[in-house]
Amino acid sequence: TGYVTLDIGYKNTGATKSAITFLDGEQGILKYRGYPIEELAEKSSFIEVAYLLIYGELPTAEQLKAFQYELSRHTLVHEDMKKFFDGFPSKSHPMGQLSSLVSALSAFYPESLKPSQTTEELNQSIIKMLAKMATVVSWIYKKSLGHPVIYPQNKYDYVTNFLYMTFGQRTEDVTIDPVVIDAMNKLLILHADHEQNCSASTVRIVGSSDSNIYASVSAGISALWGPLHGGANQAVIEMLEKIKEDGGDTDKWIAKAKDKNDPFRLMGFGHRVYKNFDPRAKIIKKACDDILEKLGINDEVLEIAKKLEEVALKDPYFVERKLYPNVDFYSGIIYRALGFPTDMFTVLFALGRLPGWIAQWKEMKENKEPIGRPRQIYVGATDREYADIASR
Ligand code: CMC
Repeated sequence: TGYVTLDIGYKNTGATKSAITFLDGEQGILKYRGYPIEELAEKSSFIEVAYLLIYGELPTAEQLKAFQYELSRHTLVHEDMKKFFDGFPSKSHPMGQLSSLVSALSAFYPESLKPSQTTEELNQSIIKMLAKMATVVSWIYKKSLGHPVIYPQNKYDYVTNFLYMTFGQRTEDVTIDPVVIDAMNKLLILHADHEQNCSASTVRIVGSSDSNIYASVSAGISALWGPLHGGANQAVIEMLEKIKEDGGDTDKWIAKAKDKNDPFRLMGFGHRVYKNFDPRAKIIKKACDDILEKLGINDEVLEIAKKLEEVALKDPYFVERKLYPNVDFYSGIIYRALGFPTDMFTVLFALGRLPGWIAQWKEMKENKEPIGRPRQIYVGATDREYADIASR
């Protein structure tokens, strides 16, 4: 069977050459297409970053306008999708709903199913995927409240439209607070790509069999759901709430996280690649203080989070293992300040990560990468004789 290198969890295996995102985990550096994340988070908008990731260059004013226009033309989702969406129990987890809905888009937009698309067809698939995702995410939120969905208003840009469909009312033309729009843009930018993480690798490997964009992204959403990946943002808030209810004794919870006989881990801490500060966490921590102040919100769990970080960063267990707060440690505190319920947090991560998944999928296709198919080292039984059921 030839020589197989074993690397369980792909800790050291490069699966592709990529020109999208640069990550130096030792130095804590993250760049999209060569632009430092700090600068993009400060100066750019989510939709501009989406363009940058997918097409490789920052758009000119004209290109951005055309991109925004194209997106706004595809924000509506086929009405028949609602019939099956209505069947989800209202309390079912938003991530399960999202992966199913995105997969179902393939049934309503079958033109994206063609394996060898022309550049224009591929581009149309990308635009539809991006445009419809925001609409579908807002549906899921509205359902959790038992409220009717709100139709998009194409005069708004992508992020404002998403916030409008999410927090808007049917009867009025609501004004979305610019602080909320800015905060949302920043969070989505910080989540937009992170090279070959679990969900991006999933999207690439599914896409490598020539699966369509909806099927590939739906698989990425499923990968993101787990608490070791995107699901950590929900797990962090649940952990902080628990610590608060328990009296806020951070030392006790740090001790639990260090105890190898206790399955508890400090959620929002540690990273496969960062062995230094996660630059996204630094930006989000600062943004957190800023946004809560601007919105006039005082969230007790923010103090608990800061105390946990302070204690952990001085503790030899965390220091030796180079465990630092990651992107998920403070993001949930902002999401809930903006008005999102805890179980929507990972869906917001998915909305942010979508341009990254699309860019990774497109790059994989353009590079004509072969089907992804890892090998194994077989350790099971060798030859055995089948025994009739009566004699087992
Ligand atoms: N709390 C306590 N100990 C930890 C933690 C933690 N959060 N993270 C890692 N460790 C320990 C781990 O027990 C191991 O110790 P030892 O060497 O004694 O066995 C050592 O640190 C190395 O950890 P690992 O699990 O081998 O590292 P990994 O690269 O396989 O896992 C991780 C990375 C992110 C899954 C892990 O750090 C973790 O479970 N963190 C908590 C969940 C989390 O916050 N996930 C979000 C990741 S960032 C955003 C994203 O990907 O979506």
